[in-house]
Amino acid sequence: MSARPLLEVKDLSVGYGSTKVLKGVSLTVEPGEAVAVLGANGAGKSTLMKVISGLLTPWEGTVTFDGRDVTRMPAEERAGLGVALAPEGRGIFATLSIEENLLIGATSVQGRMSARDFRRHKKERLDRVYATFDVLARRRTDKGCNLSGGQQQMLAIGRALMAAPTLLVLDEPCLGLAPKMGNEVYSVLHDLRQAGQSVIVVEESSRRALDFVDRACCLKLGEKVLDGSAAMMKADDLLLEAYFGVSGAEKS
Ligand SMILES: Nc1ncnc2c1ncn2[C@@H]1O[C@H](COP(=O)(O)OP(=O)(O)O)[C@@H](O)[C@H]1O
Ligand SMILES: [Mg+2]
Repeated sequence: MSARPLLEVKDLSVGYGSTKVLKGVSLTVEPGEAVAVLGANGAGKSTLMKVISGLLTPWEGTVTFDGRDVTRMPAEERAGLGVALAPEGRGIFATLSIEENLLIGATSVQGRMSARDFRRHKKERLDRVYATFDVLARRRTDKGCNLSGGQQQMLAIGRALMAAPTLLVLDEPCLGLAPKMGNEVYSVLHDLRQAGQSVIVVEESSRRALDFVDRACCLKLGEKVLDGSAAMMKADDLLLEAYFGVSGAEKS
């Protein structure tokens, strides 16, 4: 057991304009742990991921990563420290090739190493990502716009992995995908977990996410209403139903 969490979010409040969206949310991820953030549409899940990855500065509260206060650290710098977001909606560059999209994911670590080491890093990471996602390897020169939804999602995850992140942040990785494709995404995520990757994953209520993570918390209208082991939440579908009006077993 490590003495300190990898990520610690404490008493976080933030919003847009004068509207407060997150109200005093706290959350931790231990090294090597996978944590799900569940909640209905509009609960504030993506807002929380934006704060964790540095795209949004909180009004109140702190974000500590690997023992460092990163609350006001910009996203680019935070990515260099080891936090990589695969955003909701994927953010693929349609006119760039798969490989060009992937290489963008490596730029956040460029400032931390010599030009020579960076060239080596890019090659190593590309090899690793292509070994993980053979569809990306096969189609590396294809343009982003020619990929299916599932392939775009693989590319978004692959791009986040190009920075060799300590913490991989996934915002609704299966949104809009057919169930079979969603299963494929989770199958890759399982492999990454086996290799020790720490992950925070956002989903609406999802049995598949609970099968994947160690722990989950639920957001409702910007407040954390539940936090516990995945086993506990799976054992009590009624609990999830009470919070979301949807059974974890019904949705996958
Ligand atoms: N850029 C924005 N400007 C104004 N309001 C926003 C913005 N992004 C999200 N919101 C609002 O914040 C609330 C939480 O949104 P979000 O974090 O995207 O929720 P979730 O990811 O759980 O669906 C919603 O009411 C949404 O309308
Ligand atoms: Mg969202």
